[in-house]
Amino acid sequence: ISLKPFNTFGIDAHAKYFATANTLTELKTYVTAQEYPNKLILGGGSNILLTKDYDGLVILNRLKGIELVNQNDDFVFVNAQAGENWHEFVLWCIANHYGGVENLSLIPGNVGTAPIQNIGAYGVELKDVFHSCEALEIKTGKLNQFTNTHCNFGYRNSIFKNEAKGQFIITSVTFKLTRQHHKLSINYGTIISELEKQGIQNPNIKDVSNAVISIRKSKLPDPKFIGNSGSFFKNPVIERTHFDKLANNFSDIPSYPVSDNLVKVPAGWLIEKAGFKGKQFNNYGVHKNQALVLVNYGGAQGSDILKLALLIQKTVKRLFNIIIEPEVNII
Ligand code: FAD
Ligand code: EPU
Repeated sequence: ISLKPFNTFGIDAHAKYFATANTLTELKTYVTAQEYPNKLILGGGSNILLTKDYDGLVILNRLKGIELVNQNDDFVFVNAQAGENWHEFVLWCIANHYGGVENLSLIPGNVGTAPIQNIGAYGVELKDVFHSCEALEIKTGKLNQFTNTHCNFGYRNSIFKNEAKGQFIITSVTFKLTRQHHKLSINYGTIISELEKQGIQNPNIKDVSNAVISIRKSKLPDPKFIGNSGSFFKNPVIERTHFDKLANNFSDIPSYPVSDNLVKVPAGWLIEKAGFKGKQFNNYGVHKNQALVLVNYGGAQGSDILKLALLIQKTVKRLFNIIIEPEVNII
């Protein structure tokens, strides 16, 4: 079966076996099936690059359901099944006046994948609203609970990319959301100017969501029209001494402080400076508005895109002595 409809890069790689899990029982059956040694779980396919055919079983996670599990005057606890679409979940929260996820509007993918890389955008990360999740242990078929601390969240990072990598399948996530929205996160520069542009002075969660949606639409290519997986690389964190040296040569280099000794540099800037922004090679290339996004204009092979990514990585290393690491899961 072609996986083209199941990955936002639009790569036409094939899976030997394919199954859709609509219930926890089905998921358990597929995950523990001994006859398929290789298994790949997929949500929305928006953070993967398929570089070849998959010689095993691809399992689509389509567990559905959203449930209010607890509430008090200030907070609600909402459990969503892993196969729910992330943005639809965000819209559901906003419609119910539950705050906390509005800055994460329009991020593609599924609820159950969000904890894996601790999705983040416009000043908010999943960890800020994450209470706990349930995950199926592949080896035993048993459900385990992971609390927020247990997940060890960091920038585009969690336990599921480290110690627990490849061992668990997240089946549902419980969120802690606000009922009184005293503190909206609007300090991220572009949100403020977008709200101003729209003439909004006292924004509510819906206004913040709309502002984020409109900023994202202006920058990021819509996978419906141009294949991509969002940021291909993570923004690197480097020593301040290293940064100061670079700033001597490149006075316009942007940065965000991480700690006294560390700064984050936007990979998009490094890639643009390296001359790749908007570059097209046959049917793939680097997006014209956002150098951090690699794109498939139609019919590209995952292996071609991987080669381009490696060339970018090598060039950035040569020019700035910075190693940029892929955010996208290369399969
Ligand atoms: P998939 O691509 O289906 O899977 C990703 C990885 O997780 C794979 O290795 C898969 O095997 C594994 N996996 C999938 N489901 C499970 C599960 N239930 N349990 C365990 N492992 C699982 N990300 C951000 O953080 N911020 C952004 O602003 C952002 N913007 C984006 C914009 C665009 C246009 C695109 C295309 C992507 C963007 N992303 C962003 C990346 C992506 O949306 C997120 O990483 C998202 O969480 C991926 O979800 P998915 O369900 O599509 O994952
Ligand atoms: N920049 C350039 N040239 C470019 C792109 C960016 O110079 O072509 C510089 C500019 O200085 C710009 C800065 O990079 O001000 C930051 O750019 P942007 O605001 O677009 O954000 P980003 O750092 O490129 C990150 C996330 C995005 C997330 C946005 C908004 C990573 C790897 N990416 O991008 O997440 O949506 O911030 O919060 O952290 C994703 O993970 O897939 C993703 C899209």
